Amino acid sequence: MTRITLRRPDDWHLHLRDGAMLKGVLPETARHFARAIIMPNLVPPVVTGDQAAAYRDRILAALPEGMAFEPLMTLYLTEGTDPADVAAAAASGLVKAVKLYPAGATTNSHSGVRDLKNVMNVLEKMAEIGLPLCTHGEVTDPQVDIFDREAVFIDTVLDPLRRRLPELRVVMEHITTEEGAAYAAEGGANLGATITTHHLIINRNHILVGGIKPHYYCLPVAKREKHRLALRRAATSGNPAYFLGTDSAPHVDALKEHACGCAGCFTATNTMPLLAHVFEEDGALDRLEAFASLNGPAFYRLPANSATLQLVKHEAPQTFPEKIFTEAGPVTVFNPGFPVHWHVET
Ligand code: NCD
Ligand code: ZN
Repeated sequence: MTRITLRRPDDWHLHLRDGAMLKGVLPETARHFARAIIMPNLVPPVVTGDQAAAYRDRILAALPEGMAFEPLMTLYLTEGTDPADVAAAAASGLVKAVKLYPAGATTNSHSGVRDLKNVMNVLEKMAEIGLPLCTHGEVTDPQVDIFDREAVFIDTVLDPLRRRLPELRVVMEHITTEEGAAYAAEGGANLGATITTHHLIINRNHILVGGIKPHYYCLPVAKREKHRLALRRAATSGNPAYFLGTDSAPHVDALKEHACGCAGCFTATNTMPLLAHVFEEDGALDRLEAFASLNGPAFYRLPANSATLQLVKHEAPQTFPEKIFTEAGPVTVFNPGFPVHWHVET
């Protein structure tokens, strides 16, 4: 039996939703994670400081008795966002980042940004006060192939933006390509990148070969194997530019197993055992703590957690629930497709 102890991890990119879904999925994250950056793509989106405060209160109200969890709130950037409201929400400590969704890029992104020129006043304010911009880094041009949208975003949107505003602190959310990993590595102290659990495990074949697997469909969509391997090298490198953002994105099964299925993998339940498996496979168990518990707080200028989490490797494969049953409906838990011997000891 192998046992490792880490500082308690945080999730730097998480979808908790609202109402019945929030109530169902929140314990899955709070069981293992101390804090999470909470995505603001609700309907309607969390745009203002007041909306973020109300959403934080709903999250805390949904937390079961006896569980500790700190939601780190974000604002959804729109072309109507008021820089003064953003600055006030950051100054109060409520808001830790602003999220850029290119309009049309993903779930509930229609209120997002059509042209960065229209939000330059907000971005300049953020650069001035050091508030990070979390980017969904995909272009939405219908001419650009879905598998190329991240690399094109880096060249045509992200890099020009960072040249124009070098002081702006940016997180490349859920990178999926070797281009994304390489760009993040060279960006210096003002650039970080989150990597999901599932993008370390699946490539596009998992989605498409032998029948379509809707529970492996997420955005950005998983790419070819060489990209998955580049993400594995990045995550396990110990480089402080990379940290865990699960992008755990619950949708009820009825909307995943659908003629127009929703994007999102639900990994909150089993992320830590899966990461232990991945890091062990790559001979990097000693770097799991940097990826899951240290690099993220360092980028966000927050202290690492002092509490710990123990992972134990058992002889026998461990079982995870196939689904969790929320009052909104069942949500399928990400299935890595291989036996996992690691377990979080509680
Ligand atoms: C996310 C969701 O469902 O909100 N889906 C996903 O596939 N990751 C949105 C997102 O982060 O792109
Ligand atoms: Zn997401």
